[in-house]
Amino acid sequence: MKILITGSSGQIGTNLALRLLEDGHEVFGVDKRRNTWTDEFQYLLQDLAGHYAAFAGGINGVEYPEVDLVVHLAAHAKVHQLVRQPERALENAVMTFNVLEYARQRNIPFVFASSREVYGDVHRFEEYGEQVADFAYTESTYSASKIAGEAFVYSYARCYGLRYLVFRFSNVYGRFDNDLQRMVRVIPLFIHSMLRNEPITIYGGRDKTLDFTYVDDCIDGIVRGIEALAAERVVNQTINLAFGRGNTLVHCAERIAAELGTETQMTLAPSLLGEVTHYVADLAKARDLLGYSPKIALDEGIARAVAWFLEHRAEHPEEDVPIAADHEGAHAALRGWKTVPASVAER
Ligand SMILES: NC(=O)c1ccc[n+]([C@@H]2O[C@H](COP(=O)([O-])OP(=O)(O)OC[C@H]3O[C@@H](n4cnc5c(N)ncnc54)[C@H](O)[C@@H]3O)[C@@H](O)[C@H]2O)c1
Repeated sequence: MKILITGSSGQIGTNLALRLLEDGHEVFGVDKRRNTWTDEFQYLLQDLAGHYAAFAGGINGVEYPEVDLVVHLAAHAKVHQLVRQPERALENAVMTFNVLEYARQRNIPFVFASSREVYGDVHRFEEYGEQVADFAYTESTYSASKIAGEAFVYSYARCYGLRYLVFRFSNVYGRFDNDLQRMVRVIPLFIHSMLRNEPITIYGGRDKTLDFTYVDDCIDGIVRGIEALAAERVVNQTINLAFGRGNTLVHCAERIAAELGTETQMTLAPSLLGEVTHYVADLAKARDLLGYSPKIALDEGIARAVAWFLEHRAEHPEEDVPIAADHEGAHAALRGWKTVPASVAER
């Protein structure tokens, strides 16, 4: 197949593109940033968040190559950043609209990268099945951007016959996730800080439990979805992709320290505004529909992620510098705003 990937310079986009090439597909990417990891596929540098009118063979009148399917990953993907800069959440929705409009006019099936953030931090379930997302409850502006994206996708399916799959990812980590000056993700941040003997902060406290997904498992699920959607075996479904097990962030930090042979200097702090503190995915649907069976549990995944990080750092010692973490200040400023009415939070 010929597959268009938006957000092709990002973590998931790069891993997905390389895997699809390996599988014998052709890939065409679109991103507003250069790909700093690989030059193995062609991509267009384009800002997908503009208000564009022309969509004939591509977005904003640019002719894309003919493709069979689009995987829309482009987004501002950091929850707390979007709480501070809500205009970026709106840009996410605009990007999704643009890519949907392109897919509609070309009659191309559409895979959308949503997030476990659509469930919110509600602590209502042991495991989150796809049907429990309650779109009346919106945890953050990032969640709003994903809920809006999903809603657009569903409306395009009803109004225009769009064929789609929506995937809800959860804490994807491993290879190509450590461009920390651009985007701070928790696992590479902890590795980076511990290597520098700097203390780490766990926002959300000792019990914060998330479903961490090793990147190869996530990519395997997406590829299964692409094949099933293209063959029309699985169409118009919303599917959790994660590992299916909860791990505390504290455990995660301890595993990283053990891999590095160092001690953790850990501070526990209240949750950042808008962030989820408990999530474990129900993967029954991914298993049933796609035969998805994630392989890499957290301890093994951390070992791989640390090994990859160290290899990369050895080639790029210039990256061993402090992270410009402006989220710290924003955290203090916004912490007091968490005023979700109990009646809503407990639903
Ligand atoms: N990684 C995760 O843990 C995770 C979890 C849930 C959902 N997701 C979703 O999966 C998708 C991919 O995530 P990722 O981790 O690879 O993120 P990423 O930030 O590494 O990649 C996103 C890419 O989108 C590009 N982009 C942003 N704005 C753009 C614009 N206006 N025009 C063109 N390109 C633009 C960025 O340059 C970046 O390369 C995102 O939609 C994200 O919200 C990721």
